[in-house]
Amino acid sequence: MKKILQIISSVNGNQSFSLKLSNTILERLLSIYPGSTVQMRDLAKNPLPHLEDTHFTAFYKPSESLTEDDRSALLPSDEAIKEVQEAEIIVIGVPLYNFGIPSTLKAWVDHITRAGLTFRYNENGPEGLLINKKVYLAISSGGVYSEGPLKGYDFVEPYLKTILGFIGLTDIIVFRIEGTLVAEIKDAAWPKTAESVEAYAF
Ligand SMILES: Cc1cc2nc3c(=O)[nH]c(=O)nc-3n(C[C@H](O)[C@H](O)[C@H](O)COP(=O)(O)O)c2cc1C
Repeated sequence: MKKILQIISSVNGNQSFSLKLSNTILERLLSIYPGSTVQMRDLAKNPLPHLEDTHFTAFYKPSESLTEDDRSALLPSDEAIKEVQEAEIIVIGVPLYNFGIPSTLKAWVDHITRAGLTFRYNENGPEGLLINKKVYLAISSGGVYSEGPLKGYDFVEPYLKTILGFIGLTDIIVFRIEGTLVAEIKDAAWPKTAESVEAYAF
């Protein structure tokens, strides 16, 4: 039995390939860990606010100095961090937008990356505080980025591996659906992806 957090970031609702892929990963996890709970956060439907000075100021204040305004500015971040702290497995659906992640997912990253809560610096440098958790990335893209001429244009996988690793989430498995907008390969894209999930030993 596991506590699973599902993050959705596609604007495509039920037509989304990254959601379909996340759900396929979830089905496998639920069959392996029956009775698991799934907490869902849909960042497209309920985006977190972009960081403003109110958030940033409150992030760096000692708790005894926080005002009521600071506390309400911290709420979205506190809630998002609590979900991540409680989860044992995190499944993140990510469509590739303009070679990077959706801005809603970036806002989520900005709210969960907090000194003292999800990372800190010790004598050896940065230390991630979210430990012993597994992350599955379900990345969907119109083109193909895992190989070929666009390989160096994918800023989704390297960025997420870097920032999630920084806060301690180093155990990251990546699944992809690629070429969803390429006429010659789009029909084969889903069967290929479904096979990769099927073949993976969770
Ligand atoms: C705003 C926006 C930007 C996009 N930028 C790219 C891009 O840079 N490269 C690419 O291959 N596909 C791009 N796409 C296509 C999506 O990656 C593709 O449709 C993907 O399957 C979307 O995932 P989803 O179905 O989960 O929403 C873009 C789509 C949108 C809506």
